[in-house]
Amino acid sequence: MMKKIFFTVLLCIAVYANAQKFDGLAKTPPLGWNSWNTFGTAINEQLVKDIADKFIELGLKDAGYEYIVLDDGWMAKERDADGNLIADPIKFPSGMKALAEYIHLKGLKFGLYNCAGSKTCAGYPGSRGYEYQDARSYAAWNVDYLKYDWCNTDKLNAVGAYITMRDALKAANRPIVFSICEWGDNEPWKWAKDVGHLWRVSGDIINCWDCEVGHGSWSSWGVWKIINMRKDIRKAAGPDHWNDLDMMEIGNGMTDAEDRSHFAMWSMLASPLIMGNDLRSASKETIKTLANKEVIAINQDKLGIQGFRFTNENNIEVWLKPLDNNAWAMVFVNMGESPTNYKFQWKKHDIGDDVNSRSMNLENNTYTIRDVFNHVNLGDTTKDLTARIGSHDVLMIILQKK
Ligand code: GLA
Repeated sequence: MMKKIFFTVLLCIAVYANAQKFDGLAKTPPLGWNSWNTFGTAINEQLVKDIADKFIELGLKDAGYEYIVLDDGWMAKERDADGNLIADPIKFPSGMKALAEYIHLKGLKFGLYNCAGSKTCAGYPGSRGYEYQDARSYAAWNVDYLKYDWCNTDKLNAVGAYITMRDALKAANRPIVFSICEWGDNEPWKWAKDVGHLWRVSGDIINCWDCEVGHGSWSSWGVWKIINMRKDIRKAAGPDHWNDLDMMEIGNGMTDAEDRSHFAMWSMLASPLIMGNDLRSASKETIKTLANKEVIAINQDKLGIQGFRFTNENNIEVWLKPLDNNAWAMVFVNMGESPTNYKFQWKKHDIGDDVNSRSMNLENNTYTIRDVFNHVNLGDTTKDLTARIGSHDVLMIILQKK
């Protein structure tokens, strides 16, 4: 009898130990680049190598960017005779292991894409029924990150499908960040904390400020559409489990002001910062935005608290994010079509975050103010804040308790 109990307990421990994601791989939101937004399936070996080189040359690695992720289109159209995934031999003649090595030698990390369905969204072989085999391939190629999509899944149960892949990755025994991409359809913020390290909250992003572009049964969403899409999910985010607002569209056609606001908001919302532009032809202004270490530090703050809308005053969106060490990040985005002279009166506002029991208590405390896009100090909270903010531009500050 004792023997039976002993083995039952042992079995439970073994199952439990296996049934977990690799912990601690994304204590702060992942930073990287993904091929999809600009290149779709038109990707190849040289492009990826060039992007890795640009990470170094443009100071992006130095700013904290780490992952280079190949999205849909990296595979051959068919698996090999043994059912293994293979890289498209024309696009990636040296194969994925060699590419991973190139990226690792630069001190960066390598990610791939697949899908829980029978086929990926672009029609390449999906992982359904091949989860453990595919996970072993990724481990053998030294992959560090897997984005896992949700096309062609018929009546598949999302929780079950993502748990299966999580377990497959765990069994393959290589630490791989697991990026869940089911577009928020099954409310992953309610169940994915122990399954993945990040999960998409929306359908695909598109390079516009606040538009919706319909494609029949689905839509692409502009920056502010995604920001406004979900209510009350900020509590679900935290170290190692993030709400993913999608790959960024910075440098892909919006104005520089809109790009700054987009970057500020993704940082405030503790979203993964995954670049989606062509780094080979990026403008100076685009790189200045993407490589802004003061903004990135807000995104990477170790408390990992997702920011929230404080108010909208005269068409200025005001957002807050509590930071470590008695500091707060704050943004003011001008949603209007013309520049405005803006004034924020500290004494008139009771600034706090009820969800996290934090308050600035401006009656008793003074905070210094740092403008993180212009890299200048702006005095402190004893005086009203005044600023001229361009159309769709942002003032982003850090408030540090004196
Ligand atoms: C879905 C995802 C995108 C991208 C494409 C690839 O639409 O949401 O991010 O991965 O598939 O086909």
